[in-house]
Amino acid sequence: MLPFAIKPIEDAPEIRSALAALLIETVTSGGSVSFMHPLSPEDADAFWQDSLAAAARGERIVLGAFDRNRLISTVTLQLKLPPNQPHRAEIAKMMTHLADRGRGAAAALLRAAERLAIAHGRTLLVLDTAEEDGAAPLYEKQGYQFSGIIPDYALKPHGGLTGTMIYWKRIGAAAAT
Ligand SMILES: CC(C)(COP(=O)(O)OP(=O)(O)OC[C@H]1O[C@@H](n2cnc3c(N)ncnc32)[C@H](O)[C@@H]1OP(=O)(O)O)[C@@H](O)C(=O)NCCC(=O)NCCS
Repeated sequence: MLPFAIKPIEDAPEIRSALAALLIETVTSGGSVSFMHPLSPEDADAFWQDSLAAAARGERIVLGAFDRNRLISTVTLQLKLPPNQPHRAEIAKMMTHLADRGRGAAAALLRAAERLAIAHGRTLLVLDTAEEDGAAPLYEKQGYQFSGIIPDYALKPHGGLTGTMIYWKRIGAAAAT
């Protein structure tokens, strides 16, 4: 059995503060998750408030991995996409506390997100990860196919451009095709 529990996160002040701390630590340590360093607690909290409001509307699922009651890792399954892409979902905002890396939390969250995407009738998952200091090996170990690199896609948290690597995976009924 895994040494942690995986469950969807609903908005509450304590969990938002745990998510904000995880996001700030990730950005500070150079993780490419859309934000620049330094990320203020207010901006981190505002991001999660919006994200969890979208989750409450059914537009996404924010999953957490918890060691007892402590949040150690999170990933977001983005379900709201344009009307011509109802079969697709996106994986985003994957991050694990520095002290908890290498315990399998991200891999377990990815598998849980995939099961939820299938349950929502999705047959294609898409994600991207930074070329420098990203998580490409994690996704490749989980069966994601590499499409290519867009150069100079985004700034790294401490400055300087990096490319982004695009990945996809067929899931559910489409997995064998
Ligand atoms: C990427 C990240 C979420 C991985 O979290 P984690 O909980 O440590 O990952 P896991 O323990 O589940 O790793 C599963 C496997 O992937 C490998 N892996 C995970 N992240 C990796 C990385 N960045 N580079 C190389 N290998 C990695 C692990 O070594 C492990 O391999 P194994 O199964 O052979 O032992 C974490 O490093 C992180 O938060 N990074 C900063 C934010 C970031 O870059 N997020 C990705 C945005 S796309």
